[in-house]
Amino acid sequence: MNRALPDVRLRVPTDEDAFAWHRIFADPEVMEFHGGRAAELSVYEELTARQRRHDAELGFCLWTIVDSEGEVLGFTGAQPWPGEWGPRGEIEIGWRLGRAHWGKGYVTAAAVTTLERVRAAGVPRVVAMVRPGNERSIAVTRRVGMELAEVFAHPTQEDAAHCYRLTL
Ligand SMILES: CC(C)(COP(=O)(O)OP(=O)(O)OC[C@H]1O[C@@H](n2cnc3c(N)ncnc32)[C@H](O)[C@@H]1OP(=O)(O)O)[C@@H](O)C(=O)NCCC(=O)NCCS
Repeated sequence: MNRALPDVRLRVPTDEDAFAWHRIFADPEVMEFHGGRAAELSVYEELTARQRRHDAELGFCLWTIVDSEGEVLGFTGAQPWPGEWGPRGEIEIGWRLGRAHWGKGYVTAAAVTTLERVRAAGVPRVVAMVRPGNERSIAVTRRVGMELAEVFAHPTQEDAAHCYRLTL
């Protein structure tokens, strides 16, 4: 990738970010691989509160992405894999952007910063769990150098979950 990556800031999600995430992710295109429907505000209240705990305990979390004007674009970051299935015990990196912000390199920029931060925190390797048809997300894993390592049966969805890995 020769183009300069866009300028993004990553901050620990605030109380107010739950409202911003709820608003910008309430879009069937954004939720296509996450059940297809907008999630309730309470989902984002719990998710952002959990990320504040991860930041306090681990020094990393899923961060809110903010552009140079202070607008919330989405999230990117790392957290312990939260599932009872799949890559238990691993650190997962993940990303989600409001639809208006796709196609500008924001998540690639945020993922590069995420990898620098988790490496500095002493994490030896990360995974990313991606549904097979999610080409935009697969492209992000490729841009940050991840490789498909394992395929897990998804506990509730019909298709599988592909596990990409990167040694840091
Ligand atoms: C997955 C998702 C975050 C990817 O968003 P994205 O905008 O394609 O990814 P990036 O922010 O890395 O941007 C890359 C795009 O910006 C373009 N771009 C523009 N300027 C760029 C730059 N300076 N550097 C890199 N890419 C740039 C790239 O060409 C690419 O667009 P293209 O695929 O149309 O060629 C987004 O589609 C999304 O939020 N999906 C819904 C949630 C989801 O499925 N999350 C993942 C679950 S596993």
